[in-house]
Amino acid sequence: MQGIQIRKWTLQDRDALVALFAAADRRFLSDRLPDPYTEKDADFWLRRVCEQDGAAGIFRAVTVGDVVAGSVSIEQKEDVYRKDADIGYFLVGAQWSKGIMTEAVRQACDAAFQQLDIVRITGAVYAPNLASRRVLEKNGFTLEGTLRSGVFKDGRLQDLCLYGKLKGPDAG
Ligand SMILES: CC(C)(COP(=O)(O)OP(=O)(O)OC[C@H]1O[C@@H](n2cnc3c(N)ncnc32)[C@H](O)[C@@H]1OP(=O)(O)O)[C@@H](O)C(=O)NCCC(=O)NCCS
Repeated sequence: MQGIQIRKWTLQDRDALVALFAAADRRFLSDRLPDPYTEKDADFWLRRVCEQDGAAGIFRAVTVGDVVAGSVSIEQKEDVYRKDADIGYFLVGAQWSKGIMTEAVRQACDAAFQQLDIVRITGAVYAPNLASRRVLEKNGFTLEGTLRSGVFKDGRLQDLCLYGKLKGPDAG
């Protein structure tokens, strides 16, 4: 598919971000995300990521033909975990299964390994989220372990799969 890009968020993306969350499938997302997601929530987050992009993380809009269709973030951890970073992403349902997030994650990992002082990226995925697991596997992430019943979401316990990708040409 042509025209899949990741670009930095700007303060002008408030409406696009609110629309994205309104259309988001939350089954596999954290309960910490405000619901409903308001303009105030968007302004707060955009201010933070515009300040921190490239220093504490890579925070990007995923665009298809210049239209914002999703989000991908790679956020550096702190303390003794600071050489590691957590990846998270989502895409509007209308664009699923076209290879878009696989390409966006590829671009985001490249940018993160270039710009952040990290040696690995971690992806934590609820076990039933097969599409997300495929996105990581297609990007060279390795399943490193499973936290059994590590997630309680929508009244249901789920396993949490921990994936990792190391920096470097030979790294999985
Ligand atoms: C997960 C998500 C980002 C995937 O984005 P996407 O652009 O559709 O992903 P891609 O098209 O690049 O790749 C999806 C892969 O999963 C596969 N897939 C999709 N649904 C599947 C299912 N129900 N079972 C098994 N595989 C599935 C696709 O076939 C494809 O693999 P393939 O290329 O080997 O055929 C998107 O579904 C989403 O936003 N989900 C809701 C939010 C979310 O779960 N975020 C991740 C939290 S960890």
